Amino acid sequence: MNNGLRLGVNIDHVATLRQARGTDYPDVIEAANTAIAAGADGITVHLREDRRHIQDKDVEALCDGLSVPLNLEMAVAAEMLGIACAVKPPHCCLVPEKREELTTEGGLDVAGQVSRIRDACQQLAEACIRVSLFVDPDLDQLEAALITGAPVIEIHTGCYADATQLSERDFELKRIQVMAERAKQAGLEVHGGHGLNLFNVDNIARIHELSELNIGHSIVADSVFYGLRNAVIRMSDAIKEARYR
Ligand code: PXP
Repeated sequence: MNNGLRLGVNIDHVATLRQARGTDYPDVIEAANTAIAAGADGITVHLREDRRHIQDKDVEALCDGLSVPLNLEMAVAAEMLGIACAVKPPHCCLVPEKREELTTEGGLDVAGQVSRIRDACQQLAEACIRVSLFVDPDLDQLEAALITGAPVIEIHTGCYADATQLSERDFELKRIQVMAERAKQAGLEVHGGHGLNLFNVDNIARIHELSELNIGHSIVADSVFYGLRNAVIRMSDAIKEARYR
């Protein structure tokens, strides 16, 4: 635990490497356990509808065997809701999904489909799964999220991470800060994630309303050079350094 800010390590891209050759390595369970031994407070995977990286069997195995909670990211789709309710990961994060996208683009439009998302949250809550909604830092989405009964939101940090100009980055950071404050005031648990790396995580880690960051691509990329254990330690140290400063 990094001074009140948990690090959830997303291991999707370990599975991406495995799927690229259809081999049975690298092993996602070994990756999860390595990340945990290095200080990960949670493991996150996204079971995409096209199964491009994580497979159903991975979710089942990860759900059974980890010493930290599994957070399953998934689309709001009947198939995924069925899998989650059968496998029962402790946490689920509902995300938007398009088949042609390289990665999750934008947050879930909760405001545009409140009753559908509320039903999904209810179904998952009945299976004792703690639900979070992956949303853009947009107060209309927060209002809608509050109606759904989800106890957690994860704020999409992608626009902040992708900003190339300082002014744009400051603007996006402010939106995240305001969203985090309002969500916490409204009684939600607040997480953040997407596009975070060693160079941009500090501003986000300093937002005290955030209690968890989910980070994947940059950690797995760093593991090519430093090994997964060291890549997780480097991120964990960067988060600690930002929070203590
Ligand atoms: N949070 C959510 C909801 C995501 O969909 C993703 C990407 O799968 C992440 C966090 C992690 O993003 P990244 O891989 O860019 O660190």
